[in-house]
Amino acid sequence: MAFEPVLMKHVNVPNSTALTVYKSDGGYEGAAKALKMKPDEVVDLVKQANLRGRGGAGFPAGIKWGFLPPDREVTYLCVNADESEPPTFCNRITIETDPHMLLEGILIAGYATKTTIAYIYMRGEFTEQFHILQKAIDEACAAGYFGKNILGSGYDLECYIHRGAGAYVCGEETGLIESLEGKRGWPRIKPPFPAVEGAFHKPTVVNNVETLACLPHILTRGVEWFTSLGTETSAGPKMYCVSGPVNRPGCYEAPLGISCRELIYGEDFGQGMRDGKKVKVVLPGGLSMGALRGDMFPKNPNPDQPDPKQDYDELDCILDFDDVRRYDLLGLGTAAAVVVPEDVDIREVLVNITRFYALESCGQCTQCREGTMWMYQIAQRLRAGAGRVCDLNLLVEISQNLGMMPGLSICGLSDGGGWPVRNLVQKFRKEFEQRIAEQGADAAARRIKEINPAAYESPIRGYQAAEVHP
Ligand SMILES: Cc1cc2nc3c(=O)[nH]c(=O)nc-3n(C[C@H](O)[C@H](O)[C@H](O)COP(=O)(O)O)c2cc1C
Ligand code: SF4
Repeated sequence: MAFEPVLMKHVNVPNSTALTVYKSDGGYEGAAKALKMKPDEVVDLVKQANLRGRGGAGFPAGIKWGFLPPDREVTYLCVNADESEPPTFCNRITIETDPHMLLEGILIAGYATKTTIAYIYMRGEFTEQFHILQKAIDEACAAGYFGKNILGSGYDLECYIHRGAGAYVCGEETGLIESLEGKRGWPRIKPPFPAVEGAFHKPTVVNNVETLACLPHILTRGVEWFTSLGTETSAGPKMYCVSGPVNRPGCYEAPLGISCRELIYGEDFGQGMRDGKKVKVVLPGGLSMGALRGDMFPKNPNPDQPDPKQDYDELDCILDFDDVRRYDLLGLGTAAAVVVPEDVDIREVLVNITRFYALESCGQCTQCREGTMWMYQIAQRLRAGAGRVCDLNLLVEISQNLGMMPGLSICGLSDGGGWPVRNLVQKFRKEFEQRIAEQGADAAARRIKEINPAAYESPIRGYQAAEVHP
């Protein structure tokens, strides 16, 4: 049976942001149904649906809600609409085209978690989207979907938008909470997790826009429908983004579990590469989740002779929450793929990625603050034609020693900064080495004649030399 989109069903519908249009297509029926259930029954339903968070980590929403202390007096819901992961724009499309779907999801989640105030933390750059969403909130309040005694249920919920100022780290849930409280968006050490101590030191749920937008459909179409979509461990519909030189860049809804190849080449998705170019690299989950090769990844000892029994065709990677790990990706992330064509120098890709994390690190943790900057500087040195083979090892070493997972930093920005760097160096090592070999004598001469040899030993000062002598 053909897949029927639900999250993007109103994308080309005229005046789709209006409450009347949303209601004419069954809008707010899911919320009405939820309000007739007990809050814990709604939590159970969401657990059964195995709705995994769409914000990046894929953590099951129902289980997260279950961590809230049972004896709490106040609960806050923070809606993560920060959407700052590069190449990701699915939340923007939801807000632009279907703000009431998000608001209905907020109402359902708010009721299930006994929330009294929902804060939508919105990316600072979303100006038009802010006005669209505020208008929808005003309409929903006037119609009795927010405020006191919603639909006669006795449940009260207020909803406010809080606009960010454009920091990537404020998408991290505790950075978001700090920023919401009016402070610098510095992520907090966990535990305590937000469910126990979040906004204003009260139990708080943080959920992504798309996670919440799935809720009305779970309520109206049922758990069986939801779990019938996707793969065994990753249920439901997903909004995938694809950008770069594909024929049809954009955001597309599909059941979880399409392959990376389908997203790039599928008739319903990217429709292949422009000018018939080959794919060199894909970063399929936003930048932070790592990189896939566009061709075979040689696992066998002789990379010049592909061995189908051992080698991976990385574009076969299934974009669900689990298969991605087989390809050494950190996770599904935002399922927003950026495609790099064959004629882009791999060193440019490395510079681009490392620059982002070096600029966005909040600076609290030494490993992240210094490590992301070193990686950027080394990447620039490589691009400037003054790299060494040992720089590649240094990049891998730094990338493995700056993250939350080795227990060295507070939040996942650092893991996200290291992962694609390690992937790129390990999966494209031969190309990096070739580039270094090509720069050969010139680079050596430059080092000896123009670069202070002592400075060259430091990645930081080495970068400065490379910048002076590009
Ligand atoms: C550096 C960083 C940036 C993040 N940015 C976002 C973001 O923009 N939007 C988002 O929903 N989650 C983002 N997350 C994930 C959130 O911390 C959190 O896991 C998520 O909002 C939870 O929602 P979900 O369970 O519905 O996915 C980010 C995480 C990190 C480490
Ligand atoms: S890991 Fe990086 S971004 Fe996260 S808190 Fe530490 S310094 Fe800030």
